[in-house]
Amino acid sequence: MSFPRYDRLQSYQWNYDNPPEVAEVEIPKWPGDSSFCGYRLKSPLGMPAGPLLNGQWCLYYASLGFDFVTYKTVRSGYRACYELPNLQPVRVGMLQGGESDVPTQNEMTGSWAVSYGMPSTEPEIWQKDVMQTRDQLPANKILCVSVVGSVQPDWTLQQLADDYALCARMAIESGADFVEANFSCPNVSTCDGQLYQIPEDCRLVVETIRTQISNSPLIGKIGRIADSDQMRSLLAAIHPFVDALAMTNSIATRVKNEDGEFLFDGQQRGICGKATLNASVEQTRLAKQIIRDEGYELQLIGVGGASCLEDVEQYLDAGATAVHIATAAMENPEVAMEIKAAASVG
Ligand SMILES: Cc1cc2nc3c(=O)[nH]c(=O)nc-3n(C[C@H](O)[C@H](O)[C@H](O)COP(=O)(O)O)c2cc1C
Repeated sequence: MSFPRYDRLQSYQWNYDNPPEVAEVEIPKWPGDSSFCGYRLKSPLGMPAGPLLNGQWCLYYASLGFDFVTYKTVRSGYRACYELPNLQPVRVGMLQGGESDVPTQNEMTGSWAVSYGMPSTEPEIWQKDVMQTRDQLPANKILCVSVVGSVQPDWTLQQLADDYALCARMAIESGADFVEANFSCPNVSTCDGQLYQIPEDCRLVVETIRTQISNSPLIGKIGRIADSDQMRSLLAAIHPFVDALAMTNSIATRVKNEDGEFLFDGQQRGICGKATLNASVEQTRLAKQIIRDEGYELQLIGVGGASCLEDVEQYLDAGATAVHIATAAMENPEVAMEIKAAASVG
């Protein structure tokens, strides 16, 4: 049986308008119990913000064995998507962060540059969709909604924090089990894309969100941090207000074509997929060590480059309690079933 996939040669809107039907398929059992922030789950496998453009995409991947689905980042107002290419394959080995640029290639061999700019429908549309999705999703699966603030040129940081908090409250009011605040998007040039690098600013935002969502579970999504002091400062600043952290969003760099010309007007884009696995596992281990040393109550979601059971195990060994897969699941919608099957025979 072959399962429909996201078509990267078509526009974001086309993919938004053409989600696959829910699949009727038997899912292998993950051995043992899994839980995340107090929720019992059938496995630690989930999908992060991005590939699930709307509720029907969430339901489709849930039917293929993912037990935690994240609705693509939404905003407090409409935002258009960047032009194609939204997904540009790149020729890379493992990235660490700090690379000046990477070359394109035609064929997809595991890693691509992601360029959407966090588009969003109007809140009335996504709120209704989230509500219907939560109704249709099996009760033992988590629906998380990713949100971001939409900074305006004359805004203070508090105004940006208020906009994040408004989105978070709207997501929870629509029935989301979790809300995830995206503090790292290399594909936008505004400050919301880099908040995770400024611990005090990030703290103000999570503190403000917390006032609007009471005790509902909150995840912070962060980008690449290799330095242990930087990680320590961020965790110290935000741990009282968040339940979990998801890492790593992607590794930011510029992208050059075969003629040596920069794509995307020479701006950085996030590289996602295989190339980010080692750096992200290492980062998860670093964060876990600090959480242990300091006695913080924080869980970790390992994200970046996972595509098989061995990768999932690496994240779990590093201290993650959940592992989320975007690129490999877009390329191979059966990946959760394959990982569960491998785990159940192992
Ligand atoms: C198509 C696509 C769209 C994405 N959009 C978002 C987004 O809207 N918000 C976000 O926090 N991350 C976004 N991401 C990043 C993913 O959540 C994830 O962090 C990244 O892809 C690394 O996982 P992977 O290597 O399994 O792809 C996107 C990734 C992809 C591939």
